[in-house]
Amino acid sequence: MTDQRMDIDTILKEDRLFPPPASFSASAHVKSMAEYEAHYNKAKDDPEGFWGEIGRELYWDAPWQRVLEWESPFAKWFVGGKTNLSYNCLDRHLNTWRRNKAALIWEGEPGETRIFTYQQLHYEVCRFANALKRLGVKTGDRVAIYMPMIPELPIAMLACARIGAPHSIVFGGFSSEALADRVNDTEAKIIITSDGGYRRGHIVPLKENVDGALEKTPTIEHCIVYRRCGNHIAMRAGRDLWWHELVEAESGSCPHVPLDSEHPLYILYTSGSTGRPKGVLHTTGGYLVGTYLTSKWVFDLKDEDTFWCTADIGWVTGHSYIVYGILANGATSLMYEGAPNTPDPGRFWKIIEKYRVNILYTAPTAIRTFIKWGDEWPNKYDLSSLRLLGTVGEPINPEAWIWYHKTIGKERCPIVDTWWQTETGCIMITPLPGATPLKPGSATRPFPGVVADVVRQDGTSVGHQSGGLLVITRPWPAMLRTIYKDPERYKTEYWMHIPGVYFTGDGARCDKDGYFWIMGRVDDVINIAGHRLGTMEVESALVSHEKVAEAAVVGKPDEIKGQALEAFVTLEGGVAPTEALKEALKEHVVKEIGAIARPDRIRFTENLPKTRSGKIMRRLLKDIAAGSQTVQDTSTLEDFSVLARLREEEE
Ligand code: WTA
Repeated sequence: MTDQRMDIDTILKEDRLFPPPASFSASAHVKSMAEYEAHYNKAKDDPEGFWGEIGRELYWDAPWQRVLEWESPFAKWFVGGKTNLSYNCLDRHLNTWRRNKAALIWEGEPGETRIFTYQQLHYEVCRFANALKRLGVKTGDRVAIYMPMIPELPIAMLACARIGAPHSIVFGGFSSEALADRVNDTEAKIIITSDGGYRRGHIVPLKENVDGALEKTPTIEHCIVYRRCGNHIAMRAGRDLWWHELVEAESGSCPHVPLDSEHPLYILYTSGSTGRPKGVLHTTGGYLVGTYLTSKWVFDLKDEDTFWCTADIGWVTGHSYIVYGILANGATSLMYEGAPNTPDPGRFWKIIEKYRVNILYTAPTAIRTFIKWGDEWPNKYDLSSLRLLGTVGEPINPEAWIWYHKTIGKERCPIVDTWWQTETGCIMITPLPGATPLKPGSATRPFPGVVADVVRQDGTSVGHQSGGLLVITRPWPAMLRTIYKDPERYKTEYWMHIPGVYFTGDGARCDKDGYFWIMGRVDDVINIAGHRLGTMEVESALVSHEKVAEAAVVGKPDEIKGQALEAFVTLEGGVAPTEALKEALKEHVVKEIGAIARPDRIRFTENLPKTRSGKIMRRLLKDIAAGSQTVQDTSTLEDFSVLARLREEEE
């Protein structure tokens, strides 16, 4: 386990404790550790009773017969029940005073504001759902979405959910190649995009990227294009359709389809430890209940709150905590299109002041960047509306935690450090802000209904004070159901490493108070600026270049991004190792995967360190990339001189 960003020494030194402010606890959904323990124990002793009770707070077209059917590792939740996410996020609020409440507040990067009440959002979702139906989209058909952060993205998602067409959103930072692979795996009929989106004052050419992908996606019948930027794009007659023309004649009423609780809601691709991204499949009833309750308790969500999650909806965080979980609670979700430093590094704080945001949910990478930009930016704005802060995506170092607490939260706001994954669907290990005393750098305790442990390879618990593998030992409602079209891979990737339990891929330690300290990935997945990338994925991209014979990619510690990508490349015989070629290879990776995968550094090497059986020893490369002396066992290394040469080059 060399991937630990915070070693055990650092963790042991961190003994500051921040109890929740009494005024916060007094009005919180969960008010004390005693209440937390009561929920936790109830959920542990009687999971079906616990989740059933929560499920009944939501709308069902038909009741379930059983809360859980568990044939390890395949789970069914709310078996036999029928419901609909779009109905629960919209219609359920229309007969209440929330009808004219803001569901979505949106700000574009150039500065425009658009606000949708629940009624208005419902109207737009219905019109778009009708348009999809008119194009022949049926319950069960997959719809690909490749959009900027504009309101039409949640509108498209909720329209798909309304008619039971599973969506598959691909982050706008992925390239045409990566988009085509994902579209082909889902065999989507329709792709939804926009002409462009704004990022740092520039237009990201989304439709152009889609055009590149559509050359190799035979299943796509239509491409729906929302006009966002007005940039010039090619529209192919018959295939490409303008959003505004399509919805013009549609009615604002579209009955929801009562869907089986296990009907697929979405597929979201994520990196794993092998080359091909995995299509994580989430379904209807359990995901609804899981995201609903975690939104409510973790963010202590109230009707008066304006909640801002800064993630992109292209990642799971945006799915669960900009759209589904937040709207299922009838809350107000704020959404921002662009970069945090456009037009200047005060943009986030200006947004908080302008809309009086109450809850801010962001990533440690962003926090470290704000620290670098300087306190003068947040200090220029009135942040007094904030009452709660959150982080997600990677371990937060205690220094960044303290800065967030002081400079943004003014020592008044609890911080919820939430650990979870694309696969888990909802937050799993987290403080409850009115109850849990906080320790900077720890995601604290499991959410009620989640049973977590830290174990050795053989599955035995390591107990306290020592590191091990983080596992979840019981099924939970929002868990992934399978990897799309590949149940075998689902079994082997998650449930076979340590038989019978869900292996997260993370290392962790659990202290004497039962607090979890996440130490980062132990597999070949790296976390760059909160984005997951498989090293194998980047390696395949490099090797697909004609001049590359072999490549190994590792993460190295980076002050801002958490980790940076370093690639060790062996060239084909006779190819000159030039600086220009390094740049060309970086561009090649961007073309194959997207800008998020651009290697920070490429190093040419005549050979890669390998075991006698020919396996690349990435662990050693990781040490070299980090500039640390190799402390690991090198007895299986085939050729020591490879390492020596790489090190010399470093000096
Ligand atoms: C990491 C993002 C430490 C972890 C929701 C996990 C974290 C991976 C935290 C999932 C946290 C997420 N503390 N590490 N609070 N939250 N991670 O699928 O390594 O993009 O396995 O889901 O991010 O990343 P994913």
